[in-house]
Amino acid sequence: MDRLLLDPHAAPAEEAALGALLRCWLREVGGPRGHVRAAGPHLTLRVAGTLVRVRARGGIALRFDGPPEHLAEGHWRPLDLPSLVALVERELDGGNAEFAAQVRAGREAVAAILAARARAVPPADPWLASEQALVAGHPFHPAPKARSGDGWLDYAPETHARFAPRLLGVRADLVAQEGDTAALDAFGDAPAGYVPLPAHPWQLDLLAAELREPLADGRLLDLGTGPRAVVPTSSVRTVYDPGTGMCLKFSLDVRITNCVRKNAWYELSGAVELTRRLGPVFERLARRFPGTRWLPEPGYRSAALGTRLLEGLGVIVRTGPWAVCGPGTTPVLAGALAAGADGVPEAVLARRTADPVAWWEAYVERVAFPVLDAFFRHGVVLEAHVQNVLVGFDAAGWPVEAVFRDLEGTKLVAGRHDLTGVPGEVAGPLSYDAARGWDRVAYCLFVNHLAEVAATAADTGADTGADGVLRSLWAVARECLERYVADHATDPAAPLTRLLAGAPLPAKANLGVRWARAADRAAGYVPVPNPFGAAEGERR
Ligand SMILES: Nc1ncnc2c1ncn2[C@@H]1O[C@H](COP(=O)(O)OP(=O)(O)OP(=O)(O)O)[C@@H](O)[C@H]1O
Ligand SMILES: [Mg+2]
Repeated sequence: MDRLLLDPHAAPAEEAALGALLRCWLREVGGPRGHVRAAGPHLTLRVAGTLVRVRARGGIALRFDGPPEHLAEGHWRPLDLPSLVALVERELDGGNAEFAAQVRAGREAVAAILAARARAVPPADPWLASEQALVAGHPFHPAPKARSGDGWLDYAPETHARFAPRLLGVRADLVAQEGDTAALDAFGDAPAGYVPLPAHPWQLDLLAAELREPLADGRLLDLGTGPRAVVPTSSVRTVYDPGTGMCLKFSLDVRITNCVRKNAWYELSGAVELTRRLGPVFERLARRFPGTRWLPEPGYRSAALGTRLLEGLGVIVRTGPWAVCGPGTTPVLAGALAAGADGVPEAVLARRTADPVAWWEAYVERVAFPVLDAFFRHGVVLEAHVQNVLVGFDAAGWPVEAVFRDLEGTKLVAGRHDLTGVPGEVAGPLSYDAARGWDRVAYCLFVNHLAEVAATAADTGADTGADGVLRSLWAVARECLERYVADHATDPAAPLTRLLAGAPLPAKANLGVRWARAADRAAGYVPVPNPFGAAEGERR
């Protein structure tokens, strides 16, 4: 019998996987090659000679109404995932023997997540509920939820997992650490001569072979399972400790989207270095744009047992969001706001539905202004994609704060900072040239973030037709950015001015990266249509 009939979660998982691959194709291949046409409510496209159509809305976010179809023997028939994968494989050059299995694994993972989630109890903490709501994951990745190995459901945020970290003891002379690591000592005591190091149990399984010798000869001690449970956040490998209110960012040697999630040794140091440097920058941003917050990463700890274990056991301490948000403010992951209603507090949904335009205006001001000012005024690239930004809401559901996190993706524009004294291997990966920095800012902020939240906000306030509302939201975003330019812009704001004049936006090419089996940092950008609309003068 058909598995779609046997498993109630198979159909939504198929829809999610098919949608993600088709969105990637439209954005990265079909669009740039001129193989996509809008015909009434449909987009029609040609993939490897086959005509495909799908009803789409949501502007560049490409939300689909109903399943895609392909033309076969003169009839439109539903297009399933294996058929789309086969067409994609036929049209793309070069071949990739892993690709189909990765896409399939992503679909199976969503089905497993849905099944486990149906039995699980969401966290009472509203911020954590939003962290754990990204069931379908990145909407423009060909295999957003593919996970390698077994046992991952026990650690998955989407299934509301909780688990106790294991505790290692690191012989004192082998401790590698910088900055403020006090939060790590709260995870349990180590015997005299050792320092406690919390570890992700999944990572310890993955490192079992490398850990055997140091555990046998006493360089490391296995102190067993720690005393209390932590909660995984949306990135999977960063967890929240309700006991201390802090987050721990572990290494996890598992590919999640494009990267094996390992804290490189220079990133461990880099996080502490950036925390020192960004303090004064965020202070100035918060004075200019009240409601701007960030999550410092004041320290890391690991074991100096060679690069593999130094990186594999490295844990970064990150401030938790409740400690930085004002009283009465509830942080919510932007990714949950983009994905829909799951994990979003009722008051926020109600406000977004009742006043989509005013809600959106406040949203754009809170989120976009500090990101733009960080880049133009301070030479700092914030990777403000929907998984790296929390938006703080007041009791009435209005956006009042924006909390930026994840220093791994935060970069300093080359030439704008004095990095004297920072070792070259740490300073190099901390810097981006200005053009690359702007692409990153524009992709994360506009394409990955604002376009997705706007498409969802327009959907929920759909009196006059969703895309009518969406056009008003982009017009408002445009007015906000013009206001930013008028009130705050500094000399190098030229790329923003070009964008407001209609230049295409850069979108990261995730299908291209996976197809080429390349590193995430090698990802190229493809141009996507500018959603801001023409300027007043050009409209006439
Ligand atoms: N729309 C999205 N854009 C970017 N990432 C997304 C999106 N939706 C889900 N994600 C997930 O969020 C994570 C983003 O990765 P990122 O590199 O920012 O996190 P990280 O550095 O591992 O951890 P942290 O954010 O806690 O520092 C990945 O797991 C990715 O799958
Ligand atoms: Mg992140």
